[in-house]
Amino acid sequence: MSNTLIAPSILAADFANLQRDVEMVNQSDADWFHLDVMDGVFVPNISFGMPVIKSIARHAKKTLDVHLMIVEPDRYIKTFAALGVDVLTVHYEASTHLHRTLQAIKAEGMQAGVALNPHTNVDLLKDTIQDIDLVCLMSVNPGFGGQSFIENTYHKVRQLKAIINEKGASTKIEIDGGVTDKNALQLVEAGADVLVAGSYVFRASDPTETIKGLKELTNS
Ligand code: DX5
Ligand code: ZN
Repeated sequence: MSNTLIAPSILAADFANLQRDVEMVNQSDADWFHLDVMDGVFVPNISFGMPVIKSIARHAKKTLDVHLMIVEPDRYIKTFAALGVDVLTVHYEASTHLHRTLQAIKAEGMQAGVALNPHTNVDLLKDTIQDIDLVCLMSVNPGFGGQSFIENTYHKVRQLKAIINEKGASTKIEIDGGVTDKNALQLVEAGADVLVAGSYVFRASDPTETIKGLKELTNS
């Protein structure tokens, strides 16, 4: 039986009730907290940074999965490690020396993730896949929550899964953007291990039940 992990994206939470929403995730069937850091340069939006993550980390009882949508991510690797981040993901498109960046993340005791924009081919990871703990496939253009899922993602998941198997790697595949009950099962069948869900969870009338539903649907 597969164990699909569910990672609610805090970007869609109510920032004026952050502790309430963090506790909701703590009490729910969710596995990870997905935290989106945007710098207004790599993506056309600014979200939140270190002080907010520090506060979340004080209350969060689950894995902290930080998705950096920033240029020059190397500058902040040590800072995120000190905040208690478990999985640190940088964008392929923002990394000039990806291999070095991955080693630096691991040297700080974190799992190393690489995110790919929708236009970036998974073949580009063939030479680094054994050094990558998590590949985050963007199923929307990064920068905003609440966008529609890009259908080509299924194809990318299958291609990436084939590369992982061929290289004997244990890399997890995460899907980020527009995930709902309409695409979750098909994504898992294609090879996804972690599903990020922002607006689908936090805009629901009962977020806890929505997380439970996604968990059941993808682990049946
Ligand atoms: C988009 C972020 C996502 C976002 C997903 O740039 O990386 O994590 O929060 O939100 P939804 O699930 O609403 O598409
Ligand atoms: Zn994200």
